[in-house]
Amino acid sequence: MKKAFLTGATGQDGSYLTEFLLAKGCEVHGLKRRSSSFNTDRLDHLYRDFHESGARFFLHYADLTDGGSLVKLLYDIRPDEIYNLAAQSHVKVSFEVPEYTADVAAGGTLRLLEAVRLTGLRCRFYQASSSEMFGSAPPPQNETTPFHPRSPYACAKLFGHTITVNYRESYGLHASSGILFNHESPRRGETFVTRKITRAVAHIKRGVQDKLYLGNLDARRDWGYAPDYVRAMWQMLQQDQPGDYVVGTGEAHTVREFVELAFACADLDWKEFVEVDPRYFRPAEVDYLLADASKARRALGWEPSVTFADLVRIMVDADLREIDAKLRGGEEALRTAVHSEGRNM
Ligand code: NAP
Ligand code: GDD
Repeated sequence: MKKAFLTGATGQDGSYLTEFLLAKGCEVHGLKRRSSSFNTDRLDHLYRDFHESGARFFLHYADLTDGGSLVKLLYDIRPDEIYNLAAQSHVKVSFEVPEYTADVAAGGTLRLLEAVRLTGLRCRFYQASSSEMFGSAPPPQNETTPFHPRSPYACAKLFGHTITVNYRESYGLHASSGILFNHESPRRGETFVTRKITRAVAHIKRGVQDKLYLGNLDARRDWGYAPDYVRAMWQMLQQDQPGDYVVGTGEAHTVREFVELAFACADLDWKEFVEVDPRYFRPAEVDYLLADASKARRALGWEPSVTFADLVRIMVDADLREIDAKLRGGEEALRTAVHSEGRNM
């Protein structure tokens, strides 16, 4: 049975990748960092007590800012495949905590690669690189497009990407880098724009939120469905040769278009509810990301399975179900919670 180890297991992609790898028959070891409250919501449906026989999914405490903990884990687990998904992944937040963002996304990647080298593991390595690294490079972007990062997050990811390539070239490591364009799902973090929108639509529809405040509505993104993207990660590690791959749908939409469609899914007119608040503008914006994923399509046979319209519908429906479940559980408590949360997003 193949053993896989992933960082960022508690995140959106980590949860889908864990499901995917378990379905492939792997034993899966996820890294989780210490948190003062539970941070495994996205994984709880997969978890079985490790005392039970047949358990194939294990979580371990460590942190990408703590190199020793990574060496110890790799030494103990000895995985065949490593997926490095952990990061402070919010672009706007990276302007507020740039050093920490770099410490995790850049330094953490280097620490993990060093842990692989020092433990002498013969394993395959996946690095979660990002289309954000293209920044202001004109669309469409592919593997040969020059990078022009526009945020501390993107600069840190660019280091993670190039150090992965460097370990491949220096030490012959089977290390691949997926340059993934935006991918979303009902498990998307609540402060990324798509989820912020679909959650607000559901809350407005049910009468527990009045307004949605957003930043730049003109930005264009190539949005896909997260489960399709974790399949691409796995496919990269099944290739004989490592490499770098752009993954995206090849279709871009503005934030405004996402808003319009999401409100329409709930029979609402977005213009009545959405206001622009400059607080959500970024010091430097990435205007237009559009993937040319022809290499991934050709070499991996990768194809997205969900259209933009379906993605919006999936997310709005999931948020409606979530709010309905909460409302059934105690309407008054919810009204207070939603309003205070809304101010902080
Ligand atoms: P996410 O939901 O924000 O998950 C990030 C994960 O990293 C979480 O599990 C988080 O733990 C963990 N983490 C953060 N700091 C850590 C630390 N110091 N040590 C250990 N773990 C830490 O992100 P995602 O959307 O799943 O994305 C996965 C990866 O792909 C990220 O590296 C992201 O930058 C990259 N990426 C994402 C997209 C996208 O559109 N989703 C596109 C391109 C690249 P907690 O749960 O405890 O916070
Ligand atoms: N978050 C957020 N909140 N974004 C807003 C808002 C708002 O209120 N209003 C407008 N936007 C715009 C942002 O300015 C950006 O242009 C676009 O919506 C998308 O923002 P996010 O959803 O935060 O994603 P991102 O594109 O900055 O970054 C995501 O995708 C990258 C891949 O391209 C993250 O998942 C990164 O981790 C990932 O690498």
